[in-house]
Amino acid sequence: MPGGFGGASAVGRRRFLVMSTAAVGLPLPASRSAPGSSAVLTPAGTGTTSTVALTVNGKPRSAVVDNRTSLLDLLREHLGLPGTKKGCDQGACGACTVLVDERRVNSCLTFAVMHDGAHVTTIEGLAYGDRLHPLQQAFIDHDGLQCGYCTPGQIVSGVACIAEGHARSREEIREWMSGNLCRCGAYTNIVTAIEQTAKGG
Ligand code: FES
Ligand code: FES
Repeated sequence: MPGGFGGASAVGRRRFLVMSTAAVGLPLPASRSAPGSSAVLTPAGTGTTSTVALTVNGKPRSAVVDNRTSLLDLLREHLGLPGTKKGCDQGACGACTVLVDERRVNSCLTFAVMHDGAHVTTIEGLAYGDRLHPLQQAFIDHDGLQCGYCTPGQIVSGVACIAEGHARSREEIREWMSGNLCRCGAYTNIVTAIEQTAKGG
C-alpha cells in the first residue's frame, strides 16, 4: 500500500481516527452478525436489537438492527446505500468516512445505535440533483481517482476538510486527509482537487 499523503504522518492519521470515532470496542461486521443482526429474526425490544432512526442525506430513515451493528453496515446493508465503502473495517483506511452532524466519522468503528437522531451525509447525498458537488467534479477534472474504491471516503472527508478550514495549503490538506488511504496512490491529484475546490474552482 502506498505510504499515504506524502508528508502526512502516522501520528496525524491516528489523531484523525481518535477524533472521528467515539465507539468503545469494534462494531460487529456484517459477515459475523448473522443471524442475530436480522430485523426479521430478532424483533425490536428483545434486548439485543434496537430501532435506529436518523436523517440520512436529508431523508428520515429507520431500521431495526442488532445493537452491535456498525453505522457502516446500517448504511450499506439495511438502508441500501452502498456508496460508502468497506475497506479495512478496522478504522485504518477511511474508505467508510461519512459525515455525522457535519463531523467526519469512520463509520466502521462506531455503532449505529449511538447515532439515533443524528444527521448523516454519505457520498450519495453530496450532489444537487443532477449537478455534482464541486469536489466530485474536481476529482473528475484532476484525475483524483484510479480504481475509485477509496474515492467516496476521500470526497466526503475532503468536503469536511474544506469546511473545517484545513485546506489552506497542500501541506495542510495532506495532514488533514491523512486518515484516508489510497492503494492506487492518487494522492497528488486528490490534493489538487481539494485545493482547487477550496479556492472556489
Ligand atoms: S473501512 Fe472504515 S476505516 Fe477502513
Ligand atoms: S484506492 Fe484506487 S483510487 Fe484510491
